Amino acid sequence: MFNFVQNFKFSMESIKANGYPILFGEKSYEPLNAYIKENNYSVIFILTDVNTNKYCLSRFLPFLATEKTIEIIEIEPGESEKNINTCVELWTILTELGADRKSLLINVGGGVITDIGGFVASTFKRGIDFIHIPTTLLAMVDASVGGKNGVDLGNLKNQIGVINVPKLVLIDTEYLSTLPQNEMRSGLAEMLKHGLIFDAAYWNQFKDLEKTDFADFDNLIYRSIEIKNEIVMQDPTENGIRKALNFGHTLGHAIESYFLENESKKTLLHGEAIAIGMILESYISWQKDLLSEAEYQEIKKAINAVFETIIFEEKDIQPILDLLIHDKKNEYGKIQFALLNGIGKIKINQESDNDLIIKSFDDYKS
Ligand SMILES: NC(=O)c1ccc[n+]([C@@H]2O[C@H](COP(=O)([O-])OP(=O)(O)OC[C@H]3O[C@@H](n4cnc5c(N)ncnc54)[C@H](O)[C@@H]3O)[C@@H](O)[C@H]2O)c1
Repeated sequence: MFNFVQNFKFSMESIKANGYPILFGEKSYEPLNAYIKENNYSVIFILTDVNTNKYCLSRFLPFLATEKTIEIIEIEPGESEKNINTCVELWTILTELGADRKSLLINVGGGVITDIGGFVASTFKRGIDFIHIPTTLLAMVDASVGGKNGVDLGNLKNQIGVINVPKLVLIDTEYLSTLPQNEMRSGLAEMLKHGLIFDAAYWNQFKDLEKTDFADFDNLIYRSIEIKNEIVMQDPTENGIRKALNFGHTLGHAIESYFLENESKKTLLHGEAIAIGMILESYISWQKDLLSEAEYQEIKKAINAVFETIIFEEKDIQPILDLLIHDKKNEYGKIQFALLNGIGKIKINQESDNDLIIKSFDDYKS
């Protein structure tokens, strides 16, 4: 199994996103403090989970230079916490701690914390300001960028949410030094996706991971954020090209939901489910003549070199197909895929019949 050797040193220029900056590296804490001072917030709330409280606040708090009251809120870690009950708890805690409309919420954590923190802030008293400090690879290259916030409804992914941008995103890759390897791989899935949908040269840097120069990983992270941001800037509310980012996610989310609700299955990390989704949807792209067989095999080989192959039994497939009906990208009751149109290009609003989806699972299993 592929493992990362960690070697991150960011000194990149900030990226302008739709209405907020994405800042990089240790030097960014200065503009963060300046921003907080300028806005004269009443109280600063920091949302963490148990792990980011333990591993990340010891780095974050010494950088935070403010005379304002700081309140730390901690929730349990994991996708199972990303639901409306946790939001109710958080809205209640904010109320009890006297949060007003001039409060700031700083979300220090992975995609669960940035998704739920962004949603809680966007809805509390009709919206308070929030900042993301992503601490997982996945949250750095994907979840913290683009303004999608929300929670799951039961086992259905991201059914409740809003698009609302943070005031600022600060990427400090030092946080990754405590992140477990499986979580690093989970984030890598979204980086591979960015290459596959938008930048063949970027994909080529990953396709043979043994040869990838991970000493330069900060540049790879930076490019991934650039790609995500470039797509979002063109279509912030996902009426067109932003759907490209859903490649691998139509089947990936259904698989993630199915494994989440099924106690006999191991819980899949988001990126692990998306990795399978990308193989299946590449197969569908190939079968629809959008991708060559050689390209499909290249993608399958590269992804399988990073991610453990998951066993699907015959009885698993129909419930996964049933979950597709709830995919929030569906339009007029039709399941919508973003399929590859060659490596580095995408075709949105594509349909697939169930037979082809079942065949994609057969090929994955083989
Ligand atoms: N909003 C978006 O655009 C978007 C995009 C992609 C994914 N997502 C969402 O992101 C979520 C997945 O995010 P994730 O993979 O970051 O999961 P996560 O937030 O659950 O974090 C993964 C695990 O790593 C721990 N952790 C976080 N930072 C750490 C650190 N520096 N050191 C040690 N442990 C640390 C967390 O406590 C957790 O146990 C999913 O809910 C997914 O739907 C959202």
